[in-house]
Amino acid sequence: MNPMQKTDFTSAPPEMRDIFQGNIREYFYQIQLYNAAIKEIRTKLEILDEEFSVRYSHNPIHHMEYRLKDPKSIIEKLRRKNLPITVESMTKNLYDIAGVRVICNYIEDVYRIADLLVSQDDITQVRLRDYIKQPKDNGYRSLHLVVSVPIFLAEKTVPVHVEIQIRTIAMDFWASLDHQLRYKSEDHVPAGLKERLKVCADTITSLDNEMQAIYKELKEGQSNE
Ligand code: GTP
Ligand code: MG
Repeated sequence: MNPMQKTDFTSAPPEMRDIFQGNIREYFYQIQLYNAAIKEIRTKLEILDEEFSVRYSHNPIHHMEYRLKDPKSIIEKLRRKNLPITVESMTKNLYDIAGVRVICNYIEDVYRIADLLVSQDDITQVRLRDYIKQPKDNGYRSLHLVVSVPIFLAEKTVPVHVEIQIRTIAMDFWASLDHQLRYKSEDHVPAGLKERLKVCADTITSLDNEMQAIYKELKEGQSNE
């Protein structure tokens, strides 16, 4: 992907054009680094998944998604946090410009993938938020990691932040509907619906636990045969 082609400044608010176009080379340089970091993380995760498939006949990863935060969202977030709106401030303060979402089959896979990734020599864990052990009040569950990965350029090596959200298929199902609902109601989800969503989140949690237990018993049964 060529970020020069992907990024559309025509619909951007004028202040954004002033800020990032004034320093457009630096902005694209950074975006290229984030792009490279996503590739690195994806490859690492694909290699882990393939290894599991060969060794244990099990794919911990169901699928992956990834995205670069668009310029408009970057500006909005910097503004919301009262941070300077510059390329330097963006790289220093925002950890989620490069984002990878890993959707796993089982809860155990979520932790296994996270542990294996952060234990790699060139990966530094910057932040860990475990919303599976401690779900958000609305019921949201996921494991959020921020890592730093080195990007090797012609003349130097640059550490780059990537936000990785790891969750099960069931958690992802809930989060997508929650996201849609918020979007549709412009973040004013009626209290009654919030409660029902929370009930759905609880149902999904017990579903995840039961599926994990079934899988475990099946595996144990197979190894005793
Ligand atoms: P941001 O400033 O939004 O990045 O928040 P943060 O830095 O405190 O990060 P947080 O750990 O809250 O999670 C950030 C990301 O997780 C969001 O951009 C969403 O992708 C996802 N997320 C967090 N909470 C929810 C939620 O309640 N519902 C859904 N659908 N997604 C969520
Ligand atoms: Mg975020």
